[in-house]
Amino acid sequence: MNKTKKTLFTDKQVTLDKNSLIMAIESSCDETACAIVRGGREVLANVVASQIKIHEEFGGVIPEIAAREHLEAINVVISETFKQAGMQGEDISAFAATVGPGLVGCLLVGLNAAKTLALCYDKPFIGVNHLNAHIAANFIDTDLEPPFISLLVSGGHTQIIKVSSYSDMEIIGETIDDAVGEAYDKVARLIGLPYPGGPKLDKLAQEGNPKAFNLPQAKVGEYDFSFSGLKTAVLRLVKSFDGKELPVNDICASFQECVSSTLYKKVKHALEATGYKQIVLAGGVAANSEIRRKIFSLQEQGYAVYAPAMKYCTDNASMVASSAYMFDNTFDNIDVEVFSRA
Ligand code: KG4
Ligand code: ZN
Repeated sequence: MNKTKKTLFTDKQVTLDKNSLIMAIESSCDETACAIVRGGREVLANVVASQIKIHEEFGGVIPEIAAREHLEAINVVISETFKQAGMQGEDISAFAATVGPGLVGCLLVGLNAAKTLALCYDKPFIGVNHLNAHIAANFIDTDLEPPFISLLVSGGHTQIIKVSSYSDMEIIGETIDDAVGEAYDKVARLIGLPYPGGPKLDKLAQEGNPKAFNLPQAKVGEYDFSFSGLKTAVLRLVKSFDGKELPVNDICASFQECVSSTLYKKVKHALEATGYKQIVLAGGVAANSEIRRKIFSLQEQGYAVYAPAMKYCTDNASMVASSAYMFDNTFDNIDVEVFSRA
């Protein structure tokens, strides 16, 4: 990969290759994270400070509080990353940060920290798209190469993306309302689970009967999704118990069955339509046990299936560093800004 563009961060001509070290910062939501990755695939340090405990009492992320917490954590997280890797700023080839989509106040903390590092150490800076980064998590410790279909499932997004090459990515389907993670968190709240409910719902679902309740799959475009009707159906189901004890495990299992079989069906359709033989899971919800199980069952039909290790599924900076090398491969100027929506 040849990146020799001059930027305001440095006068030097810099070329990145597979031995290049990228330090990246992620601060788009409620994790302050920093990592150093070699050649987009080898993680040398990965530090994540989670704010989940702080937001738990509010039942969701409060943007102003999140931004302040990032400010508190960022310097410690960066120092810890250098320490873990046994490196200093001079050793880094380029600095990167998530520039969007995400919470603007939060993104600004990571962006300004990374820009400052680039300026101080006279190195280039790469702004990274958070969604690309979730997909790039699959390059870590693998030899994955495009073309592939990616199923991106997170708290804010649900997309099927056709990745034809490192520079050609097309969203072929997405949710028309709630994202999968959002649906998990909302349903979890309905049945009284604390934020973030997704992982907790997943655990309970494993103890329940997936066929206990028949929940509706939305009828939308061939690769598109809709989860708001499902959420309403669960609400109706919960109300029908009229205060009596809820069969929580069965409700969770039935909800999980409905979501995972919808995702499976659409992904399979996308694979057949494109003829691609590789499927790549991405995003926080890629940690879900049943979604993983169903998508991995595609291996029996001759598909290669990739999913990041659990720690690279939810927000982290290793995936940002990987994306900086693999996908977001232009050096940015000092005026690069953050953005809130894709
Ligand atoms: O990708 P991510 O860390 O942050 C966003 O960019 O949104 O995803 C967070 C989302 C949350 O909605 C969380 O509840 C969900 O991922 N999640 C899960 C599981 N682990 C995380 N949802 C279902 N099952 C899981 N095991
Ligand atoms: Zn994310």
